[in-house]
Amino acid sequence: MGTGSTLGLVRDKLSAAQSVTVLTGAGISADSGVPTFRGADGLWRNFRAEDLATPEAFARDPRLVWEWYNWRRELIATKRPNPAHEAVAAMEQRFKRFWLITQNVDGLHRDAGSRQLSEIHGNIWMVRCTQCRKMLENRAVPITILPLCPSCGGLLRPHIVWFGESLEEEDLERSAAALQRSDVCLIVGTSGLVYPAAGFGAIAKQAGAYIVEINLDSTPQSSLADATLQGRARDLVPLLLEP
Ligand code: OAD
Repeated sequence: MGTGSTLGLVRDKLSAAQSVTVLTGAGISADSGVPTFRGADGLWRNFRAEDLATPEAFARDPRLVWEWYNWRRELIATKRPNPAHEAVAAMEQRFKRFWLITQNVDGLHRDAGSRQLSEIHGNIWMVRCTQCRKMLENRAVPITILPLCPSCGGLLRPHIVWFGESLEEEDLERSAAALQRSDVCLIVGTSGLVYPAAGFGAIAKQAGAYIVEINLDSTPQSSLADATLQGRARDLVPLLLEP
């Protein structure tokens, strides 16, 4: 089936849907100029994200990890939501029940107006104290290295879920509830390699949802999809809402 007829089918499913869940990954922000994690441009000084986004890396060398986050903060601070983020934000009004689950920490979904969302990997503009666990917003670019807690003087860390750490219970519960009640689940711009998010499509599928994958490439989750739209998120996601 070509993209045209698949698109028609997906639009029909969406127009009949009461409950829609969207899962997004770095691919949706790639169209705003934010590098993906596993693409060729995802490297920083020859480090891979997997080597820096860990509690062990932070314990070993917090300065290095903060330098990496400063690089990402500087980069993200200049980026704006693209039409795919905007179309996802518009979906909140369109469907009776809607939930967005994003793995992205860049805050671009919020900037586009999304409010019904779980940022399951955290947010790069939030920090928290490694001592007293106080959480606060910090938009400084660059952030002072090493940043210290204004309350207790402890070392601040990014409020980001690192490899080897668990997601917040509340995010997991909200996501599971949304996935299980979805008529349609859209999976946009994620490589489907990092769990638990990589298993979210299967949860929705098991509960009877119609699964749509939007990605430049095929992924380990593609075989799960009832419909696959191959291309850029910024081109394809807005088309889903057209009559
Ligand atoms: P990846 O970098 O692993 O994958 C990005 C996906 O987006 C790939 O499948 C690309 O084919 C696709 N893609 C790239 N450009 C696209 C575009 N313009 N339109 C549509 N698709 C496009 O990113 P994630 O799957 O989000 O964790 O990675 C998952 C997690 O791993 C991240 O949240 C991050 C990382 O370590 C944390 O920060 C904790």
